Amino acid sequence: MKYYELIANMTLEEKASLMSGKDFWQSQDNERLGIKSMFLADGPHGIRKQAAASDKPGLNAGVPATCYPTAATVANSWNAELGQKVGEYLGEEAIAQKVNVLLGPGVNMKRNPLCGRNFEYFSEDPYLAGKMAASYIRGIQSYGVSACVKHLAVNNQEERRMSIDTIVDERALREIYLTAFEIAVKEGKTKSIMSSYNKLNGTYTNENMHLMQDILRGEWGYNGTVITDWGGSNDRVAGLLAGNELEMPSTAGETDKEIVQAIKSGKLKEEVLDESVDRLLDLIFTTTEALRKPQLEFDVEKHHRVSQKVAEESIVLLKNEGNLLPLKFGKKIAVIGDFAKDARYQGAGSSIVNPTILDHTMDCFEESGIVSIGFEPGFERYGKKDQNKIDKACALAEQADAVLLYIGLDEVTEAEGLDRQSMRIPENQIELLNAVQKVNPNIIAILSCGSAVEMPWIDKVKGLLHGYLGGQAGARAILRVLSGDVNPSGKLAETYPLRYEDTPTYHHFPGKEVSVEYRESIFIGYRYYDTVNKDVLFPFGFGLSYTTFAYSDISVNERGVTFKLTNTGNFAGMEIVQLYVGCQSQEIFRSKKELKGFVKVFINAGETKTITIPFDDKTFRYFNVKTNKWEIETSGYTIMIGASSTDIRLETTMHVKGTEAVLPYDKAMLPTYYSGKPSNISEDEFENLLGRKVPVSTWDRTKPLGYNDTLAQCQYAKGVFGRLVYHSIVFAHWYLRKIGKRSTANLIIMSVYHMPFRGISRMTGGVVSMPMVDGILKMVNGRFFKGLTHFLKERRKLIRNNKLRPQ
Ligand code: BGC
Repeated sequence: MKYYELIANMTLEEKASLMSGKDFWQSQDNERLGIKSMFLADGPHGIRKQAAASDKPGLNAGVPATCYPTAATVANSWNAELGQKVGEYLGEEAIAQKVNVLLGPGVNMKRNPLCGRNFEYFSEDPYLAGKMAASYIRGIQSYGVSACVKHLAVNNQEERRMSIDTIVDERALREIYLTAFEIAVKEGKTKSIMSSYNKLNGTYTNENMHLMQDILRGEWGYNGTVITDWGGSNDRVAGLLAGNELEMPSTAGETDKEIVQAIKSGKLKEEVLDESVDRLLDLIFTTTEALRKPQLEFDVEKHHRVSQKVAEESIVLLKNEGNLLPLKFGKKIAVIGDFAKDARYQGAGSSIVNPTILDHTMDCFEESGIVSIGFEPGFERYGKKDQNKIDKACALAEQADAVLLYIGLDEVTEAEGLDRQSMRIPENQIELLNAVQKVNPNIIAILSCGSAVEMPWIDKVKGLLHGYLGGQAGARAILRVLSGDVNPSGKLAETYPLRYEDTPTYHHFPGKEVSVEYRESIFIGYRYYDTVNKDVLFPFGFGLSYTTFAYSDISVNERGVTFKLTNTGNFAGMEIVQLYVGCQSQEIFRSKKELKGFVKVFINAGETKTITIPFDDKTFRYFNVKTNKWEIETSGYTIMIGASSTDIRLETTMHVKGTEAVLPYDKAMLPTYYSGKPSNISEDEFENLLGRKVPVSTWDRTKPLGYNDTLAQCQYAKGVFGRLVYHSIVFAHWYLRKIGKRSTANLIIMSVYHMPFRGISRMTGGVVSMPMVDGILKMVNGRFFKGLTHFLKERRKLIRNNKLRPQ
């Protein structure tokens, strides 16, 4: 242990006290021992620092900070160096704001396009997500503060996120859901990790020995700190045993006492606690040291410009019929769409940043050189069809050579805590588009949203530029691409299916009441569409440029693949070249191809460059569930170089001698997985893959409600009081939406409706103790007066013990 002497000098209570927060955002300090609090702050695309004392629940706006493009956006740049740059700037702002731990990046896989937090995550591909995350982490930690990669693991939906049990087979877990974390640990060397709220195969991830001990600490050799997601701790002692050092936020010492008791009763060895303290101290001391530097003021303007540059490289040009873009000088442009007035630039929830500066399209026109003849909103962001607005927009469009139509998803649709209900953009925007197209067919749509949407209207636009959520300077960045000052170079880090029904997880998202079954196994995203030959709207890895590229002369050896790339157009530009590998053997079911490398290359018009993409430890590996190890199958492998996952430009074959491990599966038991059409997997076949029965996926309505049941389950509570609670929550949500308080309504779903009862204590910083929750449970379970008496008695006890913290 690194801090052996210090730890030897600590009492058991002092050690246990470090294991949970001091308040909502800070870890516990200890003056006697010279241990300072750490400040932990969101988030993944900008610092959201809140004054700890004044903002217990963490809902108010943070101190102003640069709002960089969100992870879903930056992933489209496929530029790890750019990711590192974002990380460095985040690190610098963390130092300036005295933040020890930055709660990001998020590397959960985009299993389904409707996940409410997809805008915060990088990709549907673990390799791309892992590489981007590692680069962010390197950047952040180069300033000595800590990144906190999240949410480990299989947190791929927001619906019932605090209670859902994710049922996933071991191979999909390793190959799809953990690989990005593995890269973040091994290559990014993240100093801290956040466990997720959900369960993994029956156990909360924070207590899951297989995940936290066998894999994270054992196989990956992780020696950093694990922090719970806020309010995500269930059984504190079980969490500690699994290697969780820090429970957040504060429980006012309640769970520290549980640790002390567990040690005194022999349930937990003191060495386990000592080792956790040792790892936590390392995080505290090293990050505190980094913050000792004189408080730096960061250069707001410079950071804004960097944010713009990052957005520029991340914008994706999806359609450009007749080379309508870049906009030619002198063309008369009509600007239509509410988003041109109020930029849509980030998502909602814990990642929300209070930007230092905010660019809006209409304010940046003059400098762009594009000649605008006027602006019309055309639709109301949260409203229904407005014929008057449509008419005005059409009247303007009629006078223009081309129309820039700013459409997308609104702020409350893409939010933490709840998933989207459909993949469509609002109907009133489509109605506007249809009307404008009738008077002016030269429409260039500019899309702002952080996740895949359906585009049944795609044929009605000639140009389509996807800005995703471009951060505080995103609007200006988009104009620079439209004008041709910047040649677009982003490519999609996720597939755009034609319809939601086409997605591989359509039947199993967001699962049932208790669990979600990942029956599709490894077949998510392009791995699925490609394997089953399903047409998509835009494939993974797709994006256009104002120039063109030619690929030639592929050669391969055991170290990697080499080829030539020529810019055959008239503009200098950047191309993202992608390495895919496909195994030719049929012995183990596989997707047709998997991404195994990528490079972003700048190349002048007419120039040719020789590119090498090296192989690495992930190029040929698969996870073998019989040997419980990564293995390589002896086989021929197709080595593909593509401009996207479906646009393979060069191909060659190579034979690889593998590890000769026993085959993991009995093919006869898994016919659909092997069929090349892994859709609609039956329960039986999924159980064959899992090697066990799936748990019952619906609530047991006969049982009284307990700590881990959610407030939503009060709908079938035994007591009238419980059902009344349920109906009040539902009514409050409905009413808030009706009066236009959509964000607050969302908050009710996120932090009340789906909250397990234990959360009432875990999230209130000591105001409600667990024995008080026992009282509440009695009340909802039909023993109202007994419960109330119990609740009040425990409350008096809490006050008497002087534990109730001042508000
Ligand atoms: C989110 C985390 C976030 C934390 C602190 C949680 O609800 O899931 O991503 O870092 O809150 O704000």
